Amino acid sequence: MRILGIETSCDETAVAIFDGEQGSGKGSVLAEQIASQIETHARFGGVVPEVASREHLSALPLMVEEVMAEAKCGWADVDCIAVTAGPGLMGALLVGASYARAVGVVNNIPVIPVHHMEGHLLAPGLSENGLPGFPFMTLLVSGGHTMLVRVDSIGEYRIVGQTIDDAAGECFDKSARLLGLPYPGGPEISKLAENGDSKRFKLPRPMLNRDNLNFSFSGLKTAVMYAVKNHGVLSDQDRADMAASLESAICEVLVKKSVRASKQEGVKSLVIAGGVAANRCLRSMLAEQSESQGIEVYLPQAKYCTDNAAMICYAGFLNQNTSKAVLTEWDVQPRWSLSAEN
Ligand code: KG4
Ligand code: ZN
Repeated sequence: MRILGIETSCDETAVAIFDGEQGSGKGSVLAEQIASQIETHARFGGVVPEVASREHLSALPLMVEEVMAEAKCGWADVDCIAVTAGPGLMGALLVGASYARAVGVVNNIPVIPVHHMEGHLLAPGLSENGLPGFPFMTLLVSGGHTMLVRVDSIGEYRIVGQTIDDAAGECFDKSARLLGLPYPGGPEISKLAENGDSKRFKLPRPMLNRDNLNFSFSGLKTAVMYAVKNHGVLSDQDRADMAASLESAICEVLVKKSVRASKQEGVKSLVIAGGVAANRCLRSMLAEQSESQGIEVYLPQAKYCTDNAAMICYAGFLNQNTSKAVLTEWDVQPRWSLSAEN
């Protein structure tokens, strides 16, 4: 079955067409496009919601046309439309959802609302190895979320730990700003860290020794702020060392808590997903430390860690039988919990 996926929850307009083999949970991406708004928002140091909505509105229709042409699909070939319905920016979500509803009604195609974080969580399934067997643990790390989720089946998610303040991506972004780096800060810090000494600045490992699975990153950003202030003018090497020290502090906390969560829950597989999962230090540290504990790590391809529409197609594909997707019965949900309990 062919699924058209649309993602407009934040600052990336993304469209994809996925061809899924029903019953097998497998398939392939026929065509995809991502239009990043990073340059537009960079001069403001973060995403401006109204600007994001307007950019989605002007980019989306042509992108859909181009992706459909590349996949050699007409509307008659599309079996279903999957669209991000939350969480995210209200106006931005409305652009994608309204478009999906309209083309759905006109062409008589069912529309499935997809939870953006579920898209991230299932993204490793787009790679050749597919998803691990259930149950598995997922570390979901993006610009707005940091959580550990136990997955017992598609749609059965239990949050076993989450941040009590800033998300890991937010900590990267805010600290990058303190170092004079552009938005988004994660990839910039990561690039700078390659030539830095991660032991140079002593930064805290927040909540690492608490006996729960929660995270806290706002103090880490404050520690970076004081370290920068106390140091005075920063040379290029100072900034690289600070970036490496910060990256290593964030990754150490994420990795140790993920391994602990997997062991505590007795699961043998660990998935990482979300924008921060593209971080090379996190990927290698996680692979190394999990392996030594007998836990198998599943990583999405780097391009499917950050926002994309292939993951939205895939989540829609896996949810098509259970979804309560009736056009008139749902709306966008800027705040939407992944788990029924939390
Ligand atoms: O999942 P995502 O693309 O959007 C949200 O749903 O939030 O995640 C964006 C976040 C940003 O905070 C960005 O700085 C971070 O992911 N990020 C990274 C890297 N690439 C993106 N953080 C660290 N290292 C990276 N390579
Ligand atoms: Zn995202």
